Amino acid sequence: MKLTQKQKTFVEDLLKRMTLEEKIGQMNQESPSIVGGFDVPFSELIEMLTDGRLSQEEFEKILSTAKQDYHEEDIRAGRVGSVMGQDPRKANELQKIAMEESRLGIPLIIGFDVIHGLRSVYPIAIAEACSFDDSLFEETARMAARESRAHGINWNFAPMIDAARDSRWGRVSEGPGEDPCLGSHFARAKIRGLQNDRSSVRNYVAACTKHYVAYGACESGRDYNTTSMSVSNLYNVYLPAFRAAMDEGAATVMAAFNDLNGIPCTVNRWLLRDVLKGEMGLEGFVVSDANAIRECVAHGIAEDDRDAGIQAAIAGMDMDMGTHIYKDLLQAEVEKGTVPMAVVDEAVRRILSVKVWLGLFDDPYVPEADIEAYEKGLPAEHIALCRRAAEESMVLLKNEGDLLPLSRKQKISLVGRLADMADEVCGAWAMAWKKEDCVSVRAGLEAAGADVQYYPCGGPEGELDEEEIARACTEGDVIVAVVGETDAMSGEASSRADTGLPGRQRELLERLLRSGKPVVTVLMNGRPLALRWEAEQLPAILEAWHLGIRMGDAVAAALLGDVSPSGKLASSFPAVTGQCPVYYNHPSTGRPGSRSKFTSRYLDAPWDALFPFGHGLSYTSFAYSGLRVGETADSLEIALTLKNSGGREGTEVVQLYTQDVAASLVRPVKELKDYLRVSLAAGEEREIRFVLPKSDLGFYDNTGAYRLEDGLFRISVGGSSRDTLEQEIRLQF
Ligand code: BGC
Repeated sequence: MKLTQKQKTFVEDLLKRMTLEEKIGQMNQESPSIVGGFDVPFSELIEMLTDGRLSQEEFEKILSTAKQDYHEEDIRAGRVGSVMGQDPRKANELQKIAMEESRLGIPLIIGFDVIHGLRSVYPIAIAEACSFDDSLFEETARMAARESRAHGINWNFAPMIDAARDSRWGRVSEGPGEDPCLGSHFARAKIRGLQNDRSSVRNYVAACTKHYVAYGACESGRDYNTTSMSVSNLYNVYLPAFRAAMDEGAATVMAAFNDLNGIPCTVNRWLLRDVLKGEMGLEGFVVSDANAIRECVAHGIAEDDRDAGIQAAIAGMDMDMGTHIYKDLLQAEVEKGTVPMAVVDEAVRRILSVKVWLGLFDDPYVPEADIEAYEKGLPAEHIALCRRAAEESMVLLKNEGDLLPLSRKQKISLVGRLADMADEVCGAWAMAWKKEDCVSVRAGLEAAGADVQYYPCGGPEGELDEEEIARACTEGDVIVAVVGETDAMSGEASSRADTGLPGRQRELLERLLRSGKPVVTVLMNGRPLALRWEAEQLPAILEAWHLGIRMGDAVAAALLGDVSPSGKLASSFPAVTGQCPVYYNHPSTGRPGSRSKFTSRYLDAPWDALFPFGHGLSYTSFAYSGLRVGETADSLEIALTLKNSGGREGTEVVQLYTQDVAASLVRPVKELKDYLRVSLAAGEEREIRFVLPKSDLGFYDNTGAYRLEDGLFRISVGGSSRDTLEQEIRLQF
């Protein structure tokens, strides 16, 4: 996010003309509150929608009928810098008040949670990450940016790039999984997609990378819980995606709810000022998470709102989401001198800079034609991209005896309530989809011409229907069971202590298996599930996640073999929940897990993942051979031969890992460094090359310093983090 000299001068001139109240107004974000018969703030409504207390229909109905307070008076008085919303006509009205009726005519920055698409909802992030496709990450973000602008949103609270290794945490669904390298690729691509097409103000938004930082490491996977870790772990695992986003010019950052080593991120001066704004060079501003400044009182780090507000401002928190603490209490503190004016000036300079960079001073409105275009329906190219993203995000976990793909001649008994629920395909943090755009698995199979009979039988909640199960088992040549989680079972405030299939779905699968018919299982869920029994018993498992509006089309295409699955897991799957957190790149122990007793293992479960990071099958097979590792002054040159050794075309994600065999700090057993998606025809062979800068082989120590240490390195390449070819090389930097 770079400003021209002229734009910088504009910001400074404006800052000089502002009163203290107007400055603090810029630091205040409002969301519409519902007034009248029920007094629920908008943020709570969103919460209710997210945790399943409200359905999408109920939410829309409330919004369309309720009287809402949009804080027009405060906007007119210059006491609001930002609002939340997704209604383009309302956005235009509020911008008009800000531009024409407030003293200085400063436009609003309008934010919304566009996490995986607004109306054109594409797969949840943990699914999309499984595509290992940087160009896809970028294209879906660009689509989201355009659609956001057409709805009056110029600031997306995305990407969510928290590394997450404990699938009890419901928010694993929102981010790119467990790995810092994949997470950094994802972060960079998302920032490019959201921000880089500045050929027109209609094409880009300000990204808000979140949640800064280490939120994914919350103890026991329980949302909002405490986190503690070494500096080196923070720097090597949790910061890299944020650093990558800052390098790519991310405009804003949202601080996380959690405390890190005892200090809530919201008031953590070291994290905000020293690391984020100093070392990593954030150019735009930091916003708190919803109500997080007030929560510092509950954290026990501030005595009251006033104390929390002072600490947050001084720590470098530029904008207050939702508490009014800045708006109501900060002015007196600046006048008393508790909070220096320079702190306020810096925050406002940053906020105004983002508004200038967004072109809001010149062009704050959504043209009526854009609004009408979306009222007519979604653009065909958006629908196509949602489908492509869904197709690339599925992961074939198991396919015994090549049960998949099915043929159109087979009679399918389709089982599971989730299979027919178009309103479950979008998953967590999707709030603006229309049911008419969503395709269920059942609808997808029917549209694809499959011979399919549907039997609901059971789902994540509720009882099983024995009669239907009996019918599903007698009709049909093959059973396709769609099981998993509802959208409300992952996302914010949706941690689960048991990450197995919820409800009576395992029983359902047992009954189906007893029929003796082949059972194909399609998983529809928002987190890596604990699947020990399922992986042992079921012959074919397709992980389909919550794939977005075209879920049904994509699943049908995979089941019927119109596309070959090509996704690889962005997150390891445990056998049982008690293994969490389980991840491939764990530090080496003195007694690596093995069959012998006194090693790092469990008595009652495997020591490593059931399905590891990077795992994913396809309808063909790939053979790796001829690994060669060479060296130039600055890089390693790694080459190998990849052959499509199966009977049809397919796409493989070739993964490059390294291990620093001996270092001054214990290093991970394996670390992903790069990857490549390669499509090959049946029988085709290709030479694959990676050039890995030697500077990527270092690590951060416990002072936060980056170290490159001479010595032995193990280089490995393969189609998953478990199956790799390996070679060693001794390096001097
Ligand atoms: C979530 C954020 C979100 C914000 C605004 C919070 O509860 O943690 O991820 O951006 O609400 O909706």
